[in-house]
Amino acid sequence: MDKFLAGVIGCLLCSCYVHGALKINSIIGPEYIEDGTIDELVLDCDFEANNETDIVVKWFLNGQEEQIYQWITDMGTANAMGPLKDVIDPTYKVTQDEATMLRALKFKEVNPGISGNYTCKVSGDNSDALMTKQVIVYSPATSFDIALILGTDGDETILCDAINVTPKPIFDLNIVGTNDSTEWPEGFIVNKTEAVDSFGYYNLSITLPFNSSYLEEGTTKFVCSLSIPGTNYSETKSVQRFIDSGTPAEIEMNDYSENITVALNFTEEYRFDHGDNGLAPLRYSFITFFMLIFPLLLIT
Ligand SMILES: *[C@@H]1O[C@H](CO)[C@@H](O)[C@H](O)[C@H]1NC(C)=O
Ligand SMILES: *[C@@H]1O[C@H](CO)[C@@H](O)[C@H](O)[C@H]1NC(C)=O
Ligand SMILES: *[C@@H]1O[C@H](CO)[C@@H](O)[C@H](O)[C@H]1NC(C)=O
Ligand SMILES: *[C@@H]1O[C@H](CO)[C@@H](O)[C@H](O)[C@H]1NC(C)=O
Ligand SMILES: *[C@@H]1O[C@H](CO)[C@@H](O)[C@H](O)[C@H]1NC(C)=O
Ligand SMILES: *[C@@H]1O[C@H](CO)[C@@H](O)[C@H](O)[C@H]1NC(C)=O
Ligand SMILES: *[C@@H]1O[C@H](CO)[C@@H](O)[C@H](O)[C@H]1NC(C)=O
Ligand SMILES: *[C@@H]1O[C@H](CO)[C@@H](O)[C@H](O)[C@H]1NC(C)=O
Ligand SMILES: *[C@@H]1O[C@H](CO)[C@@H](O)[C@H](O)[C@H]1NC(C)=O
Repeated sequence: MDKFLAGVIGCLLCSCYVHGALKINSIIGPEYIEDGTIDELVLDCDFEANNETDIVVKWFLNGQEEQIYQWITDMGTANAMGPLKDVIDPTYKVTQDEATMLRALKFKEVNPGISGNYTCKVSGDNSDALMTKQVIVYSPATSFDIALILGTDGDETILCDAINVTPKPIFDLNIVGTNDSTEWPEGFIVNKTEAVDSFGYYNLSITLPFNSSYLEEGTTKFVCSLSIPGTNYSETKSVQRFIDSGTPAEIEMNDYSENITVALNFTEEYRFDHGDNGLAPLRYSFITFFMLIFPLLLIT
């Protein structure tokens, strides 16, 4: 057999029989926290070591090469360094066992600035092990609202905005039309804007200008949703737009203003009713023009 191949196989076999063995069971701690709900946070690197010597526990942030915490287990003290040096308490003992007591990261304060991917690496003379956990400290939007703004001539706008949310959320506007259709009708273009400050807080807005004559008869629901991936934070707000046209053919012959109603259906504090015809779909104005004005023109 090829010497190199033999070497490789030997090495693979041999690695199975190495005396020392290190294993990280889990990083114990929350995956996400709402900002302001807790004052302190512990990430505990729960590892097992068998026949391993000179064990060192290191923590890393966001895959960076420089550790933010180090404990040489033969020594009774640990050190925090790097960007979170002032936030981490290197004297915190998570167990009473001298072989594991300083393995955890304890944050003396909890705010969105500590969000990140934390890697615990445990190394010994014969082996090492590592594990990463994402921790997100999020801040819900201080305000999140949807509104339907009425203009003239069928001109309407949906406006949804979310203020001061971190980290970057997923923010979207969806439509649920007649027959539960979720396709955007033609002529609907969603305009999204976002601004972020130096602390990573986002202001987001969606505007959707449209012409009410593009809506189908029945109820159309606009649903604005906000969520932060990696957390259970999510909020939705919706507004419903109801278009009832009665029986169009007869309506224009009579007094169409009493036959066409436009109802706005808002969720929560925005709910109110609207019976006025000023907002009626423009196609009726058009028909009215021909039925009422055109004959007049002919007469004169
Ligand atoms: C530890 O090493 C000793 C001596 O080398 C061996 O007998 C024992 O099985 C090892 N224990 C483990 C858990 O690997
Ligand atoms: C953690 O790492 C993943 C994968 O690289 C990345 O998508 C995510 O944004 C990181 N999380 C944080 C809080 O930086
Ligand atoms: C809305 O659509 C109708 C019919 O297509 C059109 O006549 C009207 O001018 C439009 N209104 C606005 C504000 O664009
Ligand atoms: C909705 O469904 C009804 C019955 O299935 C159908 O007659 C109607 O055309 C549908 N409307 C739209 C806008 O698809
Ligand atoms: C989107 O909205 C922003 C701010 O309201 C505006 O400046 C921009 O022109 C809009 N973009 C489009 C494509 O309508
Ligand atoms: C977000 O909106 C709030 C309130 O209007 C404002 O105080 C803050 O400066 C805005 N932040 C950004 C990044 O635009
Ligand atoms: C999100 O998770 C936290 C803690 O795990 C829990 O207290 C809260 O009720 C959850 N919220 C929702 C909306 O599920
Ligand atoms: C429309 O209005 C006329 C007169 O105001 C009324 O007689 C008729 O019943 C109405 N039609 C509908 C569908 O409401
Ligand atoms: C308005 O919303 C309420 C509650 O969601 C519902 O019961 C009602 O039928 C809706 N009205 C219209 C006109 O869509």
